[in-house]
Amino acid sequence: MEYAVEMERITKRYPGVLANDDVSLCVGAGEIHGLIGENGAGKSTLMNILYGLELPDSGVIRVFGREAAIGSPNAAIRLGISMVHQHFMLMPNMTVLQNIILGRAPTRFGFIDRAKAREAISDIIDRYDLAVDLDLKIYQLSVGQKQRVEIIKALYRRAKILVLDEPTAVLTPDETNRLMSVLRRLKEQGISIIFITHKLREVMEVSDMITVMRKGAVTGRVKGAEASAGSLSTMMVGRIVDMSVPKAERKPAEEPIVEIDCLHALNSRGLPALRGVSFRIFPGEIVGVAGVEGNGQTELIEVISGLSRPLSGSVRFMGLDVTHMPVRPRRELGMAHVPEDRLKQGVAASCSIRDNLVLGCYYRPPYSKLGVMDNNRLSGLAERLREDFDIKAPGTGGLLGTLSGGNMQKVVFARETHDSPKFLIAAQPTRGVDIGAIEYIRRRIMRLRDEGSAILLVSAELDEILSLSDRILVMYEGEIAAEVDGNCADEDEIGQFMMGARRKGHSDA
Ligand SMILES: Nc1ncnc2c1ncn2[C@@H]1O[C@H](COP(=O)(O)OP(=O)(O)O)[C@@H](O)[C@H]1O
Ligand SMILES: [Mg+2]
Repeated sequence: MEYAVEMERITKRYPGVLANDDVSLCVGAGEIHGLIGENGAGKSTLMNILYGLELPDSGVIRVFGREAAIGSPNAAIRLGISMVHQHFMLMPNMTVLQNIILGRAPTRFGFIDRAKAREAISDIIDRYDLAVDLDLKIYQLSVGQKQRVEIIKALYRRAKILVLDEPTAVLTPDETNRLMSVLRRLKEQGISIIFITHKLREVMEVSDMITVMRKGAVTGRVKGAEASAGSLSTMMVGRIVDMSVPKAERKPAEEPIVEIDCLHALNSRGLPALRGVSFRIFPGEIVGVAGVEGNGQTELIEVISGLSRPLSGSVRFMGLDVTHMPVRPRRELGMAHVPEDRLKQGVAASCSIRDNLVLGCYYRPPYSKLGVMDNNRLSGLAERLREDFDIKAPGTGGLLGTLSGGNMQKVVFARETHDSPKFLIAAQPTRGVDIGAIEYIRRRIMRLRDEGSAILLVSAELDEILSLSDRILVMYEGEIAAEVDGNCADEDEIGQFMMGARRKGHSDA
């Protein structure tokens, strides 16, 4: 077999970290090669070496059989290698066309030949189904469109080998499917693809071969067709992970604890975001909210948690009208909130892990009496939570900002749930966290439900909604487009409601 890329025995050390430890990776010509591993496994480092952004300490790279010293991205591009980074590298105030031809414009008598460039680019767009308007400015594009621009740019530079670093981390399910079909088309045209992800289903769906990394080293290599989620996650994490969360039969209570009635609200740009949303949540059930992001989920959470006020409609919690109640008294009644953006709303990165853990209770008895904090008691609580919630840190004195995303999320989760809230709003609770922590957090959510908490789970991961929810509400354009029983929900059906292709009334109970 002809190899597009052979990376042989690559080692790369950063101060204090062995980022790549004797790593070998072979990618066949015209193959989709999945590269998976938890955060920090060394995937980006390996690809930065291939793309000439970093030099290896040792090891050999061959491109189409020829040994190559790749000293810069320009050298990589000359060899036919392109990389789409996790963070896009586009000029926001320039048009799509300008971004694509930047530095590579064809010239005619010394002038840039835009017409010729446009023609060549339109050709690429048609061939790979990468629709995007060439005359829009980058800042006007959605994330999925920006990603397509990056791919077009790579193809315009005649890439034969395309590296995509976590391309689906930022995409909606629909955009993800679309990207998958683009990858297949690229492969049909003989382009080799290295696709980095930590989402097992995706990688199994499209990859011919999969290489698994863990802590800087390769821990497995399997054919896509022979891979299973169980074996891949074991290679990634180093132990058996079971992502299926057992859902015990449970009869929710008779009386609702949360009653949302006909909410109307505006988004931050002053446009209608909620348009008459009503539903109820009962103790002992998980109500999942599915939907493409931006269909009112964020505003719904803000109104229920008390971060913002609706235009009209009401929120009742434990029989009380809390629509205009601030956040803290709601919390004191037993409402907890794991926010969707933990760095903006959930944690204070420059404070200690301990302070972040006790943020919700330091001012109340028994941790504070007559306005005096009991520091021993607070430290004891923080230490206990670190152990119970398996937060990987040597103690609780260090700064929160030094933790990985998964451990930060465990801190938020521990703080919000350790005293069994009556009602938990969990917004994107496993976004950007490692597979081991995902398993942990999902099981905790289920346990809270089994202990009688009511849970509102808002997630862009349809898998997560399907595996945890007792009932599923699908949001579309600020309304509840459907309600589906979580035990017999069908992914395709929900997908159609998410796209607005279908709708049906929900029973509100
Ligand atoms: N430029 C750098 N300087 C120092 N350490 C780095 C640098 N880049 C990555 N690392 C470290 O190398 C390890 C592997 O990181 P990375 O390749 O980004 O992993 P992945 O992409 O699999 O999440 C991590 O411990 C990370 O902190
Ligand atoms: Mg990375």
